[in-house]
Amino acid sequence: MASRELTFRILRYNPETPDVKPHLQDFHLNEEPGMTLFIVLNRLREEQDPSLRFDFVCRASICGSCGMLINGKPNLACKTLTKALPDVTTLMPLPVFKLLGDLSVDTGVWFRDVSLRTESWVHTDEVFDPDAAEEKMDNELAKEIYEAERCIECGCCIGGCATANIKPSFIGAAGINRVARFMMDPRDKRTEQEYFEVVASEDGVFGCVGLMACDDNCPVGVPLRSQLAYVRRKMAVAGWHMGRGR
Ligand code: SF4
Ligand code: SF4
Ligand code: FES
Repeated sequence: MASRELTFRILRYNPETPDVKPHLQDFHLNEEPGMTLFIVLNRLREEQDPSLRFDFVCRASICGSCGMLINGKPNLACKTLTKALPDVTTLMPLPVFKLLGDLSVDTGVWFRDVSLRTESWVHTDEVFDPDAAEEKMDNELAKEIYEAERCIECGCCIGGCATANIKPSFIGAAGINRVARFMMDPRDKRTEQEYFEVVASEDGVFGCVGLMACDDNCPVGVPLRSQLAYVRRKMAVAGWHMGRGR
């Protein structure tokens, strides 16, 4: 059986040459067994247009570099098989992040900013002793923290989030997940009131409209729905305590 001819309609734009307006360019390729969008984009760049820009590092859903809008839905290109796609596929860069060119965006600056704003490190007064035995942690709790740690910072939950698209200062599901990770960690000595300062605002958990596109769009299945609910619940209780002057 003859293989399908696939059309890839790709957004082209280079911010360094603003005279050339953003436009869609069609590329064609015959489908092969086991073909992913990683293979497609590399072949297009090697065989048809060396100026095509996109990001990949791991090819295995680990590095988070290859998030893009695939027919309008955020996903990782390296885990997307062409057999799951129609004959014509539109590829666009993730919105919200700074566009570097074509499908390449800078997620690093965004995630670094959110890490600093959410103070994503264990806050403790204990002095680190490299000779001390490793502290034990309850298995179930360690697993819950690990679930939050599985975020690969691909930006898919941010690119598909209505609030993040209209409010650049919103920390999004990935940022709230980060806060949840430290709230769960008994080694982090921050009080609920201190977390309240960081995340209980319209830029944080109270800016979230709760329709859960982020949960649907996370390509590695971080449990964003429960993380958002956890942080919202904690912050509502903290707000109630603060209102009562405790
Ligand atoms: S539930 Fe909240 S964080 Fe998730 S996509 Fe909707 S507004 Fe964004
Ligand atoms: S939570 Fe999921 S979708 Fe969001 S950045 Fe992390 S891995 Fe990507
Ligand atoms: S290339 Fe690393 S996640 Fe796709």
